[in-house]
Amino acid sequence: MSPPSCWKWPRTEHIGGVDRFNVLFIGAGNIMFGSPEGPWNHSFRLEHKLGLRLKVVALIDPAVERANAILEKKRDSFVLSAYQDTRVFKTLDDFIENMQPKDKPRAIIIGSPPMFRGSLQPGRDIESQIFKHFPGIPLFVEKPIATGAKGEIKEAYTIAKTIRDTRTICSIGYMLRYLKAVQMMKQIIQDNNLTIMSTIARYACAYEAIAKIDWWDKSKSAGPVIEQGTHFCDLSRYFGGEVDMSSVQAHSLEWHENAGQLSKLTIDESKILPENRIPRVTSATWKYESGAVGSFTHVVALQGTNYSCELEVYADGYLLKLVNPYVQPVLHVRKPGDDFEQTHTFPEDDPFFSEISNFIDVIEDIEEDPESATILSNYEDAVKTYEFTWAIREASERSRKVQTSVA
Ligand SMILES: NC(=O)c1ccc[n+]([C@@H]2O[C@H](COP(=O)([O-])OP(=O)(O)OC[C@H]3O[C@@H](n4cnc5c(N)ncnc54)[C@H](O)[C@@H]3O)[C@@H](O)[C@H]2O)c1
Repeated sequence: MSPPSCWKWPRTEHIGGVDRFNVLFIGAGNIMFGSPEGPWNHSFRLEHKLGLRLKVVALIDPAVERANAILEKKRDSFVLSAYQDTRVFKTLDDFIENMQPKDKPRAIIIGSPPMFRGSLQPGRDIESQIFKHFPGIPLFVEKPIATGAKGEIKEAYTIAKTIRDTRTICSIGYMLRYLKAVQMMKQIIQDNNLTIMSTIARYACAYEAIAKIDWWDKSKSAGPVIEQGTHFCDLSRYFGGEVDMSSVQAHSLEWHENAGQLSKLTIDESKILPENRIPRVTSATWKYESGAVGSFTHVVALQGTNYSCELEVYADGYLLKLVNPYVQPVLHVRKPGDDFEQTHTFPEDDPFFSEISNFIDVIEDIEEDPESATILSNYEDAVKTYEFTWAIREASERSRKVQTSVA
C-alpha cells in the first residue's frame, strides 16, 4: 500500500555544484566509514549528498593507523577528490595548530565514542573545544550524547544551552526519526488529531554479531539500554512526549542468572569485571507527562545478524505498529471502522541518508523549499532521551537490589 498522496517525504536529493564543502570528521570508526555490523556509514552518505563538493579536511582519531588505512582505501576509489588532501590528527588541538584558513570546516561530524564527549570534563569535552575554536559551526553528533556518570547529565544540559544560545545548527544521530514509516505515523497522528494513550517498544538485538568488548562492559558503554536501546527510548519519546522520570520502573535479567546464559558470545566476557557485565533483558514501564503509559523491553538474546524491533503506538481507535525499522520497515495501521490492519512498506528507504541530507540542507538553507529540510533530533532533546535511559538503568538496578536483599 502506498502512502497518502499529501505526504511530503524528507528531502533526500544530491546537490550538484563545484564549490567546496569542508567537513571535519571526529572519529574514524564504524559509524563514519561503515562495518559489517550494519548499514551505517556517514562518509558514504556525505559523498552521495555533496559529490565533488565534499572535502574532508581532517580525520581526528587517536588511532592514527586506522584512520590512515581508511584514507588509503578512499583515495584508491572514485571518491578520491574528497580525501586527497585529508590530514589525520590525534586531537582537535593538533588540527587547530596546523589548520590553514582554507581548511576551516563548514560542518563537523562527531562519531567518537560517547565516553569521550557530552561532558565538561577535560578529555571528554569535545563540544566545548569546538565551541571555543569554531563557534557557530554546525555539528552532527552521534547518539547517545554521552555515556559518562549519571551526575554529569547536567553538564550535557549546559552544552545544550550553549548550542541553543549560540543558535548553532546541531543534529543528533537518532536516524529512526527520519524513517518514512515514522514520518507517516506522525502524519496520521497529526491529520486525525490523535492523543497518544500508550507506546509499547521492543528491541531485541542479535548479540552474536556484537564483537566489540566495550559494548558488553557497563563501565565503557553504560549498558545496552543507554548505548543501543536509546534508539527506541527516543522513538517512544518522539511519540509519547515528555516522560515523568519519577514514574520509571524496571526489571532486569542479569548475566549470572540461569535464564541469562548465552551460548554464542563472540567476546570473552570473563575479561569484564562481574559488576560491569550487562543485563540480558531490561524491561521498563513509565508514565508520560500527558498521562499516557509507555513500556520498553531490551533483549540480548538473538543470534545471527538481524535485530527484531517493534514499536506500537495506540490512540483511541488507532494502532500504528512499526516493525523491523533497521532492515525493512513495515508499518501496520489499524483505524476506526476496520478490524483489519493496512500494511505499508517503504522499499529503499535510507534514514541514514535522510538525516545527513537534512543536516546539509539546513546548513545550506535551501531557499526554494525551506520547509522541507528539518532536523528532527536536537541536542537538548537528545539529552532528555539520555536522561530517560539512565532512569531505566537505575530503576532496573534498584529492583535488583531489592530482590537481592529480600533473598
Ligand atoms: N546511529 C546508529 O545506528 C549508530 C551505529 C553505529 C555507531 N553509532 C554511534 O557512533 C559512535 C561511534 O561508534 P563506532 O561504532 O563508530 O565506534 P568505533 O569504535 O568503531 O569507532 C570509534 C573511533 O573513535 C576513535 N576515538 C576514540 N577516542 C577518540 C577521541 N577522543 N576523539 C576522536 N576519536 C576517538 C577510536 O579510535 C575509533 O577509531 C557511538 O556513539 C555509537 O553509538 C551509531
